[in-house]
Amino acid sequence: MKKLLLSGVCLSMVLIGSTAGASYYVGSDQCFTCHQDQFNEWQASGHPWKLRKVDKARYSKLPLPPGYSWDDISYVIGGANKKARFIDLEGYIITTAKDGSEAKTQYNINDGSWSFYHQGEKKPYKCGPCHMTGYTPDGNQDGRPGMIGTWVEDGIGCEECHGAGSDHAQKPSKENIKIDRAVESCGKCHQRGGINPAPPASKGFIKHHEQINELFAGPHSDMNCVQCHNPHQRAILVKDACTSCHEAKIDTFPQSLHGKAGLKCFSCHMPKATKSAIKENKYTGDVRTHIFTINSDPAANMYETVEKSGKKSTTAKGFVTLDYVCLGCHQSKDINWAAKNIKNIHE
Ligand code: HEC
Ligand code: HEC
Ligand code: HEC
Ligand code: HEC
Ligand code: HEC
Ligand code: HEC
Ligand code: HEC
Ligand code: HEC
Repeated sequence: MKKLLLSGVCLSMVLIGSTAGASYYVGSDQCFTCHQDQFNEWQASGHPWKLRKVDKARYSKLPLPPGYSWDDISYVIGGANKKARFIDLEGYIITTAKDGSEAKTQYNINDGSWSFYHQGEKKPYKCGPCHMTGYTPDGNQDGRPGMIGTWVEDGIGCEECHGAGSDHAQKPSKENIKIDRAVESCGKCHQRGGINPAPPASKGFIKHHEQINELFAGPHSDMNCVQCHNPHQRAILVKDACTSCHEAKIDTFPQSLHGKAGLKCFSCHMPKATKSAIKENKYTGDVRTHIFTINSDPAANMYETVEKSGKKSTTAKGFVTLDYVCLGCHQSKDINWAAKNIKNIHE
């Protein structure tokens, strides 16, 4: 068991605990005592790893930007799934080499490459509302000037979703702990530009952290995230959720060419048309989209660009096109070939 949160937790108990009657944050470690299954699943997922102090992160196998040693780093952002960024001792996100010269400072996990990140800018870490537990915008965490706001636990802990849990941990009952299954409770972080059906895109890909925008743009706009996801688990362990509602396809699909080749429904209906760190090829980013509907017209365009008060912005429409769906795997073919070959694709 990791005890690293305890000092921060004790402090928050003293501060917030003094408010008479109200529950205060106790930290995810406290929940482990009675909810080991949820805790262990959650530990293996990205949520708790969103921000890690150097004492923990230095034992990961991550390389550092040029010139830096672990003694120059205060925190690591991410590094569980697609990419990692690094925070210096002042609390700013690193955007140059240690000596100030130009350098790529975002590490991409899938292929071990590096990308530029706001090269040369002084970039405060103000990402807390979506990356932390019990965030408030006031003050600076650890007194580091670059870290905007304070919080009670690094990363997305149990209490970010279930609410402050001191009352419950002392006297467990269903009444004194929150469960919120509404799509917006996940969408407050898994969005860009607000909760709406217009996922922002650029350079041929939908941008990342827009799952609710994508969901709202597609045919499953009245579903909740937790109808398919166990919120404690990694995405790749998602419940096999297509079968329950699309039975006809399930009967025939396993016998089809692609079914036999081991593809899943999401291989085509959730192509990696979204990009976080890298693109694998012209039509393959690194995040699966939640749009689902396939438009099989080879002339269809997935994106639309509008001009508002002189500023152009591109968003994805409510479907994916066959180039993104088929050509990531069938790289030597073209979209007209794909359109000719979709007949009875599930059979
Ligand atoms: C001392 C043991 C204990 C601790 C510590 C504890 N819980 Fe529980 N928890 C329980 C028990 C027992 C139940 C079942 C209550 C019931 O069925 O009436 C429960 C139920 C829950 C539920 C389900 C509520 C529902 O509506 O079904 C959630 C969510 C939960 N706990 C979250 C947490 C979180 C988050 C923490 C840490 C802040 C935590 N628990 C700490 C014992 C504990
Ligand atoms: C990202 C938000 C989120 C985080 C983080 C989270 N939970 Fe949950 N939890 C939920 C939701 C939503 C449900 C209801 C799931 C459902 O009904 O399908 C739930 C359900 C539960 C339940 C009821 C039984 C179950 O598994 O469905 C328990 C107990 C629980 N959580 C404990 C915890 C503990 C302990 C942690 C931290 C180790 C934690 N949760 C972290 C969102 C979260
Ligand atoms: C406080 C902000 C926040 C909330 C609330 C939140 N998430 Fe997340 N979620 C994140 C961030 C940030 C990541 C990226 C974590 C990483 O990879 O380092 C993430 C990652 C995930 C992943 C990928 C995890 C993996 O390792 O494969 C899933 C799935 C997910 N969230 C589902 C949910 C669901 C479902 C809910 C609601 C019950 C929810 N999230 C609520 C911020 C949030
Ligand atoms: C509106 C909420 C939100 C804001 C603001 C936000 N993020 Fe995220 N971030 C997410 C979510 C959700 C994910 C995971 C889902 C995805 O990438 O599609 C994520 C993923 C990441 C990852 C990838 C983690 C991994 O293990 O692959 C990094 C790194 C990251 N964010 C850094 C930042 C930085 C740095 C900032 C501030 C400059 C920031 N984010 C601001 C919500 C947000
Ligand atoms: C809870 C039930 C439910 C689950 C689970 C579900 N769907 Fe659906 N899906 C629907 C409904 C209902 C519609 C029709 C919506 C409409 O007609 O506007 C739909 C529509 C679709 C469509 C678009 C049909 C069209 O012509 O636009 C696709 C594709 C699809 N689902 C694929 C999937 C995949 C892939 C999964 C699993 C990852 C899945 N669905 C899981 C209920 C579900
Ligand atoms: C090899 C790619 C591929 C796989 C894998 C795949 N689909 Fe499809 N699916 C398509 C294409 C292409 C269309 C559009 C067909 C059209 O427009 O004529 C489609 C259309 C659909 C539709 C809407 C039209 C209809 O026929 O009802 C649903 C629902 C659907 N698929 C569900 C599923 C489910 C469920 C699975 C998994 C069992 C699955 N698909 C697996 C490519 C695929
Ligand atoms: C119809 C079922 C369904 C719904 C609804 C759904 N998801 Fe997913 N989600 C999936 C599937 C399937 C995957 C891909 C699993 C895999 O790659 O093995 C996935 C993947 C993800 C990923 C990882 C994407 C990647 O490739 O890195 C995140 C993050 C995520 N979902 C968050 C959410 C959030 C947040 C919501 C609600 C706004 C949501 N999902 C709603 C089925 C669903
Ligand atoms: C995840 C990768 C993947 C995706 C996405 C995918 N395929 Fe395939 N496809 C395969 C594999 C694997 C085979 C089987 C190769 C074999 O057994 O010879 C195959 C075989 C085929 C074949 C028969 C062999 C050939 O090359 O003529 C056709 C036609 C085909 N796919 C069309 C499509 C179309 C159309 C789409 C999009 C709707 C699509 N595929 C999406 C992986 C994929």
